Amino acid sequence: MSALSVDALRSRFQAALEAARTPADLKTLRDEFLSRKHGLVTALVKSIASATPDEKRTLGAASNALKQEIEAALDTREAEAAASAPPKDALDVTLPGRRPFLGRRHPLTQVRERVEDIFLAMGYQVIEGPELEDDWHNFEALNMPAEHPARDMQDTLYLASPVPVPDGGRAATLLRTHTSGMQIRYMETHEPPVRVIAPGRVYRRDQFDATHTPMFTQIEGLVVDEGISLGDLRGTLNGFAEQFFGGRVATRFRPSFFPYTEPSAELDVECQGCAGKGCNLCKHTGWIEILGCGMVHPAVFEAVGYDSDKYTGFAFGVGIERLALRLYGVDDIRMFYENDLRFLEQVAL
Ligand code: DAH
Repeated sequence: MSALSVDALRSRFQAALEAARTPADLKTLRDEFLSRKHGLVTALVKSIASATPDEKRTLGAASNALKQEIEAALDTREAEAAASAPPKDALDVTLPGRRPFLGRRHPLTQVRERVEDIFLAMGYQVIEGPELEDDWHNFEALNMPAEHPARDMQDTLYLASPVPVPDGGRAATLLRTHTSGMQIRYMETHEPPVRVIAPGRVYRRDQFDATHTPMFTQIEGLVVDEGISLGDLRGTLNGFAEQFFGGRVATRFRPSFFPYTEPSAELDVECQGCAGKGCNLCKHTGWIEILGCGMVHPAVFEAVGYDSDKYTGFAFGVGIERLALRLYGVDDIRMFYENDLRFLEQVAL
């Protein structure tokens, strides 16, 4: 090793220092030149041991000077780097943004609003009424007198003791089993023509499984005027189904029975899951029932004091959960009540 290699080392260091940009570069440089094990300056100092006494003197002094020089230069640059580095918690404006979490309305609310919008556009009015209901509105006035077997169709949740109904009338004895009582409430307080829908919660003594919940949601519809016919019912509900499912859907009206309508029917729509071919969703029938409907029974008009010779009308009741299952292709109704965000985010409209 000669004095020349001291100079060579110095210029090599200077060039490297010039090229160093980041604190990491400086650390690498420090390692390369000053590391105790394999540093270049360390090796130079070690090589002095084998030099002649004359060389030792000059080389010793020169290599020591170089070592200090390098240390000082690195210290300075490191201090500069530390001073100009952004503080640890500084805002890095180059990072991609984080999306704020946006809440949205529950799928069942969205479905209810979708149905409401369709009927509002057809000139209907949206009304609401009490969930605690009396016998008259829930059963009696709907042509289901005390001993009527149709009352067995709905396993009713009765109250332990009657409570006043906020909207007036008789004392409530039960949780309404359907929104059909709203037909009575509206007709008792309004003269024809009638064109209303009444969304709301209803209650039944059902178990909690994939297709039943003790509480669910319906939308009742009622139209009364002179000359309302079955054709109006069919046209209205077919139009509704098309708009709700966003395009042409095959529908069919199946004869059915409800005490408050005559004739009565259920409306099926072609299963969206299998395009009518048959799948688990539609129990392999190709059809899904979405609502009950019919022409208002004259006994109902008599109960509310309407002239059943003069007026006719149609009524219908849609299950909102049923529509939601159809619309989102979900096969378990409980999903709508578990508030699992992973599910709720997927079914957003
Ligand atoms: N109330 C019936 C139910 O809960 C649905 C229904 C059927 C409503 C026929 C109506 C109707 O207005 O005319 O299943």
